[in-house]
Amino acid sequence: MYLHGNAKTTAELTMALDAGVATVVVDNFDDIDRLEQLATRPQRVLIRIIPGVAPETHESQSTGGRRLQVRTALDQAREAITRIRASEKLQLDGLHLHIGSQILDTEPFARAVEAVSVLGEFPVYDVGGGLGVRYTLKDEAPTVEQYLDTIATAARNYLPAGAKLVIEPGRSLVASSCVTLYRVTTVKHTGRTFVAVGRRHGRQPGRGAHRSGLRGGSGHQDDGPARRDNPARRPSVRVR
Ligand SMILES: Cc1ncc(COP(=O)(O)O)c(C=O)c1O
Repeated sequence: MYLHGNAKTTAELTMALDAGVATVVVDNFDDIDRLEQLATRPQRVLIRIIPGVAPETHESQSTGGRRLQVRTALDQAREAITRIRASEKLQLDGLHLHIGSQILDTEPFARAVEAVSVLGEFPVYDVGGGLGVRYTLKDEAPTVEQYLDTIATAARNYLPAGAKLVIEPGRSLVASSCVTLYRVTTVKHTGRTFVAVGRRHGRQPGRGAHRSGLRGGSGHQDDGPARRDNPARRPSVRVR
């Protein structure tokens, strides 16, 4: 089990260490300081790296570029690696990256693997999640095979032989497992059509709107319940 997070509280770190969490993914120097203080036995860690790769996805879903989130950027990563290697309590297993979500092109995953390879050789590389899914009729999502081929090829080309490769797919595993029903509250026509939606009906897995794809500005295709009975029916509403 991995503990992730860019804002881990001391209480969360303590709980994870008490529970014997296998690996803590260190996001910043503060994580390193607090782990050093709190750990009472050797603790395995990965360092989260910003590989400087910004995939084409909605800005709110992109985390691989330098300016978008404060993560352990490549230029600080070496310092973190040195510090953890010198630690008596922390054991550095390798690197972690997550360049973003809803990525519809596999090439940025390969670039990210190449980018972190300059940091040296490690036993473990966790390349995060990010494989996109088909939210709108225009979306062309890569297949799982294409995604895995890209990452495995990049690993063969740039990472040490025998390194363990970890992936953390999220949305691509669950997105097609359910539909989310929203009640339309109001429809406004002002040259463009705005559809205000109200409460969701029923529960959905994952993190609410994040998993449903109904994220402000990121595009969502409303299939409408009738589409299940009549696949030829054109979707009537696009929420933006
Ligand atoms: C660290 C990390 N790993 C994996 C995921 C899952 O990403 P996705 O659902 O895009 O596959 C996320 C999503 O935010 C994440 O932050």
